Amino acid sequence: MSKFHPLTIADVRNETRDTIAVTFAVPPALRDSFRFQQGQHLTLRAKIGDEDVRRSYSICSAVQDGALRVAIKRTPGGLFSSWANDTLRAGQTLEVMPPMGHFNVPLDAANRKHYLAFAAGSGITPILSIIKTTLAAEPHSRFTLFYGNRASSSVIFKEELSDLKDSHLERLKIAYVMSREQQDIELFNGRITKDKAARFLRHWVRADDVDVAFICGPEDMMLGVSEALREAGMPKSAIKTELFAASVPKHAHQPRPAAGVAHQHTEVTVIMDGNAASFTMEQDKESLLDAGLRAGLDMRYSCKGGVCSTCRCKVIEGKVDMDVNYALEDYEIARGYVLSCQSFPTTAKVVIDFDQAE
Ligand SMILES: Cc1cc2nc3c(=O)[nH]c(=O)nc-3n(C[C@H](O)[C@H](O)[C@H](O)COP(=O)(O)OP(=O)(O)OC[C@H]3O[C@@H](n4cnc5c(N)ncnc54)[C@H](O)[C@@H]3O)c2cc1C
Ligand code: FES
Repeated sequence: MSKFHPLTIADVRNETRDTIAVTFAVPPALRDSFRFQQGQHLTLRAKIGDEDVRRSYSICSAVQDGALRVAIKRTPGGLFSSWANDTLRAGQTLEVMPPMGHFNVPLDAANRKHYLAFAAGSGITPILSIIKTTLAAEPHSRFTLFYGNRASSSVIFKEELSDLKDSHLERLKIAYVMSREQQDIELFNGRITKDKAARFLRHWVRADDVDVAFICGPEDMMLGVSEALREAGMPKSAIKTELFAASVPKHAHQPRPAAGVAHQHTEVTVIMDGNAASFTMEQDKESLLDAGLRAGLDMRYSCKGGVCSTCRCKVIEGKVDMDVNYALEDYEIARGYVLSCQSFPTTAKVVIDFDQAE
C-alpha cells in the first residue's frame, strides 16, 4: 500500500501550452493495486538533481475508461511540474504510489441526483474523472459545472468536456468563467469567488435542487464557494472539497505551552503492511512522520503540509495533537484518523495504524 511501483509511461499528450496529460501502463500484476475511484490521486516520485521529490496528481480518467491518467500543469517556478513538463516522454518510467483520497461519493445506477462542481485551472482534473464516471454509472443523474480559467487557450480538457457535453446534452451543463477574456454575460467574467458563487446560486442553480457539490482549486476559491453554498442552505456534509497544495504555505509547528513539565518522550508503534515497528521520540519537537522517517521507517507521505492525505493513518492507542488539516473530513477525525505529518504525540504511548487507512 505504501509502496511506490515503477510504472512505464504509455503516452504524454500536450493538453494546453503548460499542461501535459500522462497515461501510465499498468501491468496485469499491479491491476488490483492501481484500481481507483473517481476523484482519487496518485503520488508521483522522482529524483530531481539530488532531491527525492514527491507530488500528488489527481487522476483525470473515468473509472470505466480502463486508463490511468493524470494531468500535470506547470506551476511557475515549480520543481516537479516544470521537470515533468520538460522531460517526461512515452517509454520512460516513473515511481507511482497506488491511488488514494476520498474526494468522491458512492455511486448507484438507481440515483437521480443533481451534482454541482466548481473547478479552477488544474482543479478540473479530479472533477473530470468524477463527472465522466458519474454520468456513465448513474444514467438518471445530472451535473452542472462552473469552470474558471484565464482564457479559452488555458482551458484544460476543453475538447473532452465539449465531447462529453455533446453526448450528454440533457445531463451536463458547463459554464466557463474567464478572468482575462471578455464573455457576453457579465456574470461569467472574472474569477470564481464567494460573491460570484452566491450569484450563480441565485440565478443559475438552486442550492435546494443540488444533492452534492464538489469544489477543487486554490484555497481562497474553495473556501469562498464553500461559504456561498452553506449560506444558500447546503449542509456541510454535502460539500466535498479538494485543495491543490501549491498555494499552501508550509506551517511551522507551535509547541504547546509547557504544562509545567520538561520534554516528555513518547513510545510510538507504527503498524504498516502487517508489521509493527517502534521508536521513541520527544513530544512537540517533530511530527510523527518526521520522527518515523528519521527512525528509518518507510512511512508514506507526499506534501508534508496537511493537504494531500497520503500520510493518513488511524490512532489506535494514545492521543496526538494535529496542526493543520486540509485533507480529512470531520467524520474521519471522529473515527480516529490523523495526518501523521501534522501530528504530535501528547501521551507516553501512541500506536498508529496505516493498514486501516482505507
Ligand atoms: C491532492 C492533490 C491533488 C493534486 N492534483 C493536481 C493535478 O491534478 N494537477 C496539477 O497540476 N497539480 C495538482 N496538485 C498540485 C501538485 O501536487 C503540486 O503541488 C504542483 O504541481 C506544484 O508542484 P511543483 O513541484 O511544480 O512546485 P513546487 O516546487 O512545490 O512550488 C510550488 C510553488 O511554490 C513556489 N516556491 C517554490 N519554492 C519556493 C521558495 N523557496 N520560496 C518561495 N516560493 C517557492 C513556486 O514558485 C510555486 O509557485 C495536486 C495537489 C494535491 C495535494
Ligand atoms: S503528507 Fe500530505 S497531508 Fe501529510
